[in-house]
Amino acid sequence: MMSSKRPRIFVTQPLFPQHMELLRQYCDVDVYEAGGPPPRSLLLEKVRNKDGIVCMVGDKIDAEVMDLSPNLVVISTNSVGFDHIDVEEATRRGIYVTNTPGVLTEATADLTWALLLSVARRIVEADNYLRAGKWKIAWTPTFFVGADVYGQTIGIIGFGRIGQAVAKRAKGFGMKILYYDVVRVPPEREKELDANYVSLEELLKNSDFVTLHVALTKETRHMISERELRMMKPTAFLINTSRGPVVDEAALVKALREKWIAGAALDVFEQEPISPENPLIKFENVVLTPHIGSASISSRTKMSELAATNLLSVLRGEEPPHLVNPEVKKIRPLTMVKRL
Ligand code: DGY
Repeated sequence: MMSSKRPRIFVTQPLFPQHMELLRQYCDVDVYEAGGPPPRSLLLEKVRNKDGIVCMVGDKIDAEVMDLSPNLVVISTNSVGFDHIDVEEATRRGIYVTNTPGVLTEATADLTWALLLSVARRIVEADNYLRAGKWKIAWTPTFFVGADVYGQTIGIIGFGRIGQAVAKRAKGFGMKILYYDVVRVPPEREKELDANYVSLEELLKNSDFVTLHVALTKETRHMISERELRMMKPTAFLINTSRGPVVDEAALVKALREKWIAGAALDVFEQEPISPENPLIKFENVVLTPHIGSASISSRTKMSELAATNLLSVLRGEEPPHLVNPEVKKIRPLTMVKRL
């Protein structure tokens, strides 16, 4: 039943049907169903007079969006990353920002591992070769030789949930594990994972695989640039399943062209989707996937559920399962955002 008292929300892309249904039980839901993020002009139109937004990684939720939606009390992103939201601005205005951590950790670590193995053992290159009908000689001693993984050294940059899940996999592969983060994990955890805390420089110089698991912030933007790539071994690979702008892509292209490193495997890019002109597409020693780190059925289902329950919790005036900006409660307590 429609009632003017029901909170009004905008969902920028449909969540799973059961979670859309849940939202519809309590809210008047406007959803953009065309597939992919709504064009900016449409987003700006749709957010007017909404109490809540459910958004995705491709939606830029900034001061302009917030200016147009003075009733807005909650922004629920269907992602763990929230670099697409101006959280500081939201907090200043008393808007609750929520996300979906935890439920995509293993899926993202799995994809990291798939990329690492693919680039080391040239899986995509070999598959393309076979499908193109180029396999004419059954076996030769040097045919598609790649890099070893078992027993090598992995350098994990960003040792939060996903970085540590990658370390667990690395342990099974008998690897020496180096990690770097601004925060060092407790000694018991280091011991459990056989992880060695080192400086960024030491990690870059000594790793056979460097894998990135940091959030995108002012500090991590282009944290891997020309200087860092030059420190890596010429036999080493770079893996990125975090955020594209953590790597200076122009510098990476230069590093690949000039063979400062052996290859790269990337799920995220400075511009998404990448342009067909992107020079990365031309390298055979680069594996590329279209931002699918969390794309397993169970992860995406749980993310969708969390995105819905986070939003509904705030509208009920209850603590949401995952609040990005807890300091917002001082600006506007939960009792003042209750709409249900
Ligand atoms: C996230 O959740 O931040 C991923 O990048 C999208 O799944």
